[in-house]
Amino acid sequence: MSIWLIFGSLLGVIEFSQQQLLTPLTKTSPELFPYQVYVEADLYCLGALISTRFVVVNAICIESRNHAEVHLGTESDPFYNIFGTKGQVIKASELLPHPEFGKRYTDHVLVNNIGLIKLRDPAILTSKVQPIKLPSKYDFPLLPGTLLNVTGYMDSIFMSDILRFMTVKVRPQEQCQEFYGKDFMTDVEQCVEATGRRIDWPGVFAMDGKLVGLARELSRSIDCVVSDSSCSKHDVFLSIGPYLDWIYENSDVPRTAPLVRIIRIQQPQFVPKPLNRLQIVLPPSPIIVPELVNIHDREGFDYI
Ligand SMILES: *[C@@H]1O[C@H](CO)[C@@H](O)[C@H](O)[C@H]1NC(C)=O
Repeated sequence: MSIWLIFGSLLGVIEFSQQQLLTPLTKTSPELFPYQVYVEADLYCLGALISTRFVVVNAICIESRNHAEVHLGTESDPFYNIFGTKGQVIKASELLPHPEFGKRYTDHVLVNNIGLIKLRDPAILTSKVQPIKLPSKYDFPLLPGTLLNVTGYMDSIFMSDILRFMTVKVRPQEQCQEFYGKDFMTDVEQCVEATGRRIDWPGVFAMDGKLVGLARELSRSIDCVVSDSSCSKHDVFLSIGPYLDWIYENSDVPRTAPLVRIIRIQQPQFVPKPLNRLQIVLPPSPIIVPELVNIHDREGFDYI
């Protein structure tokens, strides 16, 4: 009986710490996720602002290259939004689906489902509208256990879905492959572990304020091939890693990766400098002088 009680309380502790780690569906404000945008184009899509002029989005949203309108800094889904604000609304001047976006012939899965929207007017940066940083190529594939924030809109209040986020944990690639079978594209996709309810329309996956992925929802829902209750079709994302070069080449985001390397090389050179300064600043022992004077005085006294 007492063993079961101890076991039960241990389970409680484990469950509690997991809850702390993976927060289910928190209502949030655009101030915390100012990069999250809503796109009205061929489809309604979610994307991320990466500079005042560019938005990253799934290619399928802009495939026809017809039109797109971006809503920035909105706390609720502007399509259903009756009472709230629609955010900053900016039309696109250029639509760039990835040149190799298309269908995999064998099973019609969308590949390279990524694209860029160039805004006609630059976004006005406010506390609710800020671009997200791009990660380094060396961050990919993200290590299992890495925590990410997923943002998206869900749960109507007054006919309008609101911005929510949840923190999730990257799963090992082998487990993703096992969960989603042949539809899971190991070279460009990763998957996460979450607890409880998921955001039913996830958009952007971010790691410490850097864009790491777009939800795979629009590529075709990816079904679980295992009967594991922790497997959900919402947990797969398209990794930004393999597309970083293409994003840099086609947007105005400056490359920052080489700077990081220069800083690392410079660090050891600063180490000897404080030592040199210490040696110079230290005066040559001032205590010796009064001692010498005392000895002379004593000697003089003895002679007298
Ligand atoms: C997730 O977002 C929250 C709220 O902005 C932030 O405190 C936390 O550091 C973020 N976590 C990650 C892994 O980015």
